[in-house]
Amino acid sequence: MQGKRILLIVGGGISAYKIPQLIRLLRGAGAAVTPVLTAAGAQFTTPMTLSVLAGEPVHDTLWNSGDEAEIGHIQLSRRADLVVVAPATADLMARMAQGLAGDLASTLLLATDKRVLIAPAMNVRMWNHPATLRNLATLKGDGILTVGPDSGDMACGEYGPGRMAEPEAILEAIRDALTPALRPLAGRHVIVTSGPTHEPIDPVRYIANRSSGAQGAAIAAALRDLGARVSFVTGPAAVAAPAGVEVIAVETARQMQEAVAVALPADAAVMAAAVADWRVVNASAQKVKKDGQGQAPVLEMAENPDILAWVSRDEGRPRLVVGFAAETENVVAHATAKRARKGCDWILANDVSPGTGIMGGTENAVTLITDEGAEDWPRMSKDAVAARLAARIAEVIG
Ligand code: C5P
Repeated sequence: MQGKRILLIVGGGISAYKIPQLIRLLRGAGAAVTPVLTAAGAQFTTPMTLSVLAGEPVHDTLWNSGDEAEIGHIQLSRRADLVVVAPATADLMARMAQGLAGDLASTLLLATDKRVLIAPAMNVRMWNHPATLRNLATLKGDGILTVGPDSGDMACGEYGPGRMAEPEAILEAIRDALTPALRPLAGRHVIVTSGPTHEPIDPVRYIANRSSGAQGAAIAAALRDLGARVSFVTGPAAVAAPAGVEVIAVETARQMQEAVAVALPADAAVMAAAVADWRVVNASAQKVKKDGQGQAPVLEMAENPDILAWVSRDEGRPRLVVGFAAETENVVAHATAKRARKGCDWILANDVSPGTGIMGGTENAVTLITDEGAEDWPRMSKDAVAARLAARIAEVIG
């Protein structure tokens, strides 16, 4: 975003209070911001706030002779790389759809030759009104990009779609709009499972494994960097989830399956989680105590659902399903058999024998198994494996 200029039109909605944060994010990412405030917008945020944060004067009227002489309104909208309307009120959307030009904001929107991104925000009934739906369809037909609205509690006390997208999401949409070629996965949805699962024995004890979640987190970040919307379904991992992905934290395999089901549909799924094969069926609701006779409790186990096999065969199957195979011997043979058994498209196989330092480490040496055979990748960092995998995924679903 370095060196890019955003013309930011601020409409009159309560969510205008989030715009100062958006300006901070944009400037932090290296963009310059030219703020434009509508008369209604000025009821919710002040020209002073916007101009201090943008480091530039706010434009708020058509009738400023100084402005007209120095720069001109048409210039204002054309020297930008992107025009963003946030919040885009029902009224602004209607005026855009009609091509009205009664004030500075609508004049700029009509005069621009740049892409326009709107972040709608309004009361849920206004959003669902046939007039707004008509206007939205017109705007989309005109090539206007949209981000949001989100659903949730609204300032007016109602609940539903109409909340302006969060500043972080608007920032991502701006990034996508500015650099489509660098973001081949923009508009794509990918589910990534990661980390171990915990299978409870009682409220304080569980069965787990040594997965750190490092490779899964790196893959989620790499997919995000290529523009994908990532649903990151993670068990209790040792490494933090990356920023800018939707984190769905789970503990058990069954919760993980449920979360994947909710996250579908998706264009691709990367199942990097080390899911426990078994769970304890006689898990105790209370902490198990020593019986005083030296008799140890017997844990009765049942097999967990195989999430990879299930998602590969589900009718809502993503176009590309990628599994992992952590093996300690005959890596390629076992992984090839696993690919067929699970019904996934690709398997990334790695040797996790003691001594390789891969489990819990920062490097990985993998073999990619596809229907064309096995492809050895050189040993590299988990981040590099992730970037390479994300690029390959983009070749298929981008
Ligand atoms: O069978 P195994 O656990 O070795 O298979 C590894 C692959 O299957 C990984 O991609 C893992 O995320 C996935 N898996 C799964 N659900 C399970 C077991 C494994 O999704 N219950």
